[in-house]
Amino acid sequence: MRKLALGSQGLEASELGLGCMGMSEFYGPRNDEESLRTLDRALELGVSFWDTADVYGPYLNEELVGKALKGRRGQVTLATKFGILRDPNDPGKRGFSGKPDYVRSACEASLKRLGVEQIDLYYLHRVDPNTPIEETVGAMGQLVKQGKVRGIGLSEVSAATLRLAHAVHPISAVQSEYSLWSRDPEEEILDACRELGVAFVAYSPLGRGFLTGQIKSVADLAPDDYRRYSPRFQGENFTRNLELVSRIEQLAAEKGCTPSQLALAWVLSRGGHIFPIPGTKRIQYLEENVAALDVRLTDSDLSLIDQLAPKDVASGSRYPAEMMGSLNK
Ligand SMILES: NC(=O)c1ccc[n+]([C@@H]2O[C@H](COP(=O)([O-])OP(=O)(O)OC[C@H]3O[C@@H](n4cnc5c(N)ncnc54)[C@H](OP(=O)(O)O)[C@@H]3O)[C@@H](O)[C@H]2O)c1
Repeated sequence: MRKLALGSQGLEASELGLGCMGMSEFYGPRNDEESLRTLDRALELGVSFWDTADVYGPYLNEELVGKALKGRRGQVTLATKFGILRDPNDPGKRGFSGKPDYVRSACEASLKRLGVEQIDLYYLHRVDPNTPIEETVGAMGQLVKQGKVRGIGLSEVSAATLRLAHAVHPISAVQSEYSLWSRDPEEEILDACRELGVAFVAYSPLGRGFLTGQIKSVADLAPDDYRRYSPRFQGENFTRNLELVSRIEQLAAEKGCTPSQLALAWVLSRGGHIFPIPGTKRIQYLEENVAALDVRLTDSDLSLIDQLAPKDVASGSRYPAEMMGSLNK
């Protein structure tokens, strides 16, 4: 596994990362023992760029990652996020804060839960509509000066917001959803990142599991699985999206790889500054995903994929309507 420069501030990360969110919430039952074994295996395979957030669990995912880090902090490029607030009485409700005082207190709390002295990449998870981005990033830059954080990142931001932020303090990475069925970043932000020397971290590169071909019916998901609330996993959208998956499955079979590997190889093919962070709690899936690095897509494969999965191919928006508003445009 190669390590590549992540942005322009001296950070490095494995070319394939590991999304840890689903180990603690959103995608079916938790199994911490299995997740810890998967994190062990990830390090053996060189998948050392780990992604978590305070809001996953909430808090449980940072605590789990903290456990896995014990005794080997130096081997991991550790990324976490702040800025989304949960309501203990209503698990679906979200608030946002990028206020400087909150930036400082959220960072202290994450350092404690993770059991580390420094976070490698600290992201603002969502822009706070009530706090100017310059104020939030100014406070994040102070954390870098104090040595609590090595680099700063922004999640789901527009190119205009990235430029404003980058002028206050250099941004090392932008994280947004990017996959065969979520190609919005191609409009602006991928190019803006390339131009500014900012890494682009592609979250949900497997379409929250849909593009793997393993989810054939909503009944395959646990009753409390977040994806049941996602428009793309509902009703006629689900059925139409399965047609896309069957085209991906066919192409993968022709290439001698799995649909998951094809989906990841495609994201990797889109630019040297792009780091996919597929999520899994299972060793078997992790190993399968790592092998995507061996899949070579030719120019004719890529143009065929463009026909199979053009922009806007997905039926349904990528978040429920009430959450779409939190994406910075
Ligand atoms: N910044 C943000 O707002 C944001 C939003 C969402 C996610 N993220 C980050 O991005 C990471 C990755 O995204 P994601 O987890 O949403 O989506 P993903 O990587 O697109 O898909 C994860 C799902 O795919 C399944 N899977 C993984 N590899 C597989 C394989 N080879 N075959 C079959 N199924 C496979 C996993 O199953 P199992 O669960 O059974 O292992 C899981 O249900 C998250 O963990 C999180 O750290 C960030």
